Amino acid sequence: MSIFWFITTLLLLHSCTPGVGMDHGIVNGKESIPHSRPYMVYIRDKYTQLACGGFLIREDFVMTAAHCKTKHLMVYLGVDDTHDLPEGIEVDVFSHESFANKAGDDIMLLKLKTPATLSKTVNIIALPETNREEISSNCMVMGWGWQEHDKKSQSSVLREVNLTLLASENCATPHTLCTKEEAGPARGDSGGPLICGNEAVGIVSYYIMNEITSYLTMYTNVSHYLPWIHSKIMNAPL
Ligand SMILES: *[C@@H]1O[C@H](CO)[C@@H](O)[C@H](O)[C@H]1NC(C)=O
Ligand SMILES: *[C@@H]1O[C@H](CO)[C@@H](O)[C@H](O)[C@H]1NC(C)=O
Repeated sequence: MSIFWFITTLLLLHSCTPGVGMDHGIVNGKESIPHSRPYMVYIRDKYTQLACGGFLIREDFVMTAAHCKTKHLMVYLGVDDTHDLPEGIEVDVFSHESFANKAGDDIMLLKLKTPATLSKTVNIIALPETNREEISSNCMVMGWGWQEHDKKSQSSVLREVNLTLLASENCATPHTLCTKEEAGPARGDSGGPLICGNEAVGIVSYYIMNEITSYLTMYTNVSHYLPWIHSKIMNAPL
């Protein structure tokens, strides 16, 4: 099966039917304390309702996965329950030029047309710094996606789970980080942050099911893309 298929599995076509199995998210996750992850952003296409996660890295920039790109993206800040969304914000899209619907370069920045007002419920998360030593392997992911890999079961409230980062030699590509556990992101969790030691070090990208109970989940290695990120932010039109 192609990598493209695996990438698309983490995208979620949000059901328009109200009230069907909408009360969990993230496989084996638990409900986040409402608004305790103020950098977390809900991203959805205005028309197709395709949904992703993302995270606020500046008042005017959200980071997410390039495979979440659709024509009419809207971002929602300070969300806990997706049944109760604030007004959506329109964005300018900067997806990685080399992303080609396969593994690699799965990173995108969204520039908010109306910058966020930071508060208790809306805040930014730090990115890793360049030339830092080891990153912590105690990590966490969160999202509004499916709570079972093979069953439509998206969550309306944010859910999170702790994960341990694997050593890089166990990953498929040099520009990714990975985890391999029963728990973790599923459809609809794409684009969300992998947070290790209070920094957003990864972006949920795709997974490979290689055993019945464990999934090798791949995240874009944010550190690797710092020069790209800085150039996009610096050159973005005002
Ligand atoms: C993750 O680990 C932290 C620290 O060990 C703990 O306080 C927290 O409850 C854990 N979160 C989940 C979702 O299990
Ligand atoms: C992530 O990228 C940084 C910067 O290029 C690199 O130093 C680090 O080794 C990468 N991590 C992995 C697991 O490949």
